[in-house]
Amino acid sequence: MLRAKILGTGSALPGEPISNQTLVEQLAARGIESSDAWIVERTGIRQRYIAAPELTTSALATEAARMALADAGLPVESVDLIIVATSTPDMIFPSTACLVQKALGCPGGAAFDVQAVCSGFVYAMANAQAMMAAGMAKTAIVIGAETFSRILDWNDRGTCVLFGDGAGAVVLQAHETDDAGAGLLAARLHADGRHDGILCTPGQVHNGTITGHPFLMMEGQAVFKMAVTVLDQVARETADAANIPLESIDWLIPHQANVRILAATGRKLGLPPEKVVVTVDHHANTSAASVPLALDTARRDGRIKPGHLVMMQGVGGGFTWGAVLARM
Ligand code: UT7
Repeated sequence: MLRAKILGTGSALPGEPISNQTLVEQLAARGIESSDAWIVERTGIRQRYIAAPELTTSALATEAARMALADAGLPVESVDLIIVATSTPDMIFPSTACLVQKALGCPGGAAFDVQAVCSGFVYAMANAQAMMAAGMAKTAIVIGAETFSRILDWNDRGTCVLFGDGAGAVVLQAHETDDAGAGLLAARLHADGRHDGILCTPGQVHNGTITGHPFLMMEGQAVFKMAVTVLDQVARETADAANIPLESIDWLIPHQANVRILAATGRKLGLPPEKVVVTVDHHANTSAASVPLALDTARRDGRIKPGHLVMMQGVGGGFTWGAVLARM
């Protein structure tokens, strides 16, 4: 079977990290009360990266893509598909993927964005696998990239401490393999649009002005409950689809929103904490970038090795969720 094999990964984080304490002081100067203790206890987040005003999502995506291509040892000319998962594109159109393609200098292949919020990277990976299995692409760059800081309401302490900016990328190449070979073994995607209101940024550009609330809004506890339920379900469903017992999974990489969600998901699946990759403490919640950033971190520090089984999971606005299981 034709499978998308992960040949390289890369990431990009803007500037210097901003610690909880620094952020808390900035908020205090504007009369908003928070604390490092609250943020750490409720979320596990210790720092985040925030893009300078002139830095774009496509620039972060391009930096991560270049690093992933170098890691894969492939020339940019070989790329015939670019998918960028983002909810914070540079502009309404063209897509961020087209801007990345231009910056990389590999015109001609397909390039498009996927908008599934924090599930975006997993949605994009599943799409790349499907296109490769159908013979529509040979070498792809799949990127999750966000500048979520631009859609945060810095007067809402319930959300502004949770998110950060960044990008992660993988290079995929179609290979003919059997079930024991490296590649994406299974993917499962879901959405339930009835829960659109629990996590949304409802503003829009309307006849030249912004109408509606242009900042992220979240019912934290409702999202939390949905996340722990669906992450458990979709991991089981995806492992079943690949005929892989859960205990064989080497690494679980859930969307990095909150350490309590990561711990609960690992526990429900019977996976020990040492098998769950956690980067939310360093990156905060970077939406579509969180899973590829975590994947790149754990590959580069030597935890994820060739042959390992890695379950990647997204969950977020829409409501959307999904998982992909890959053999490295
Ligand atoms: O990326 C998409 C997926 N997103 C997620 O998965 C996020 C899911 N949700 C969560 O992670 C958690 O619900 C939060 C971290 C957002 C909130 O944690 P919580 O334990 O559900 O807290 P809460 O919203 O119930 O708030 C508890 C208290 C409230 O005060 P009162 O009403 O008890 O007096 C909040 O006003 O904490 C207060 N609070 C804060 N205090 C200090 C909320 N934000 C802050 C803050 N600093 N930054």
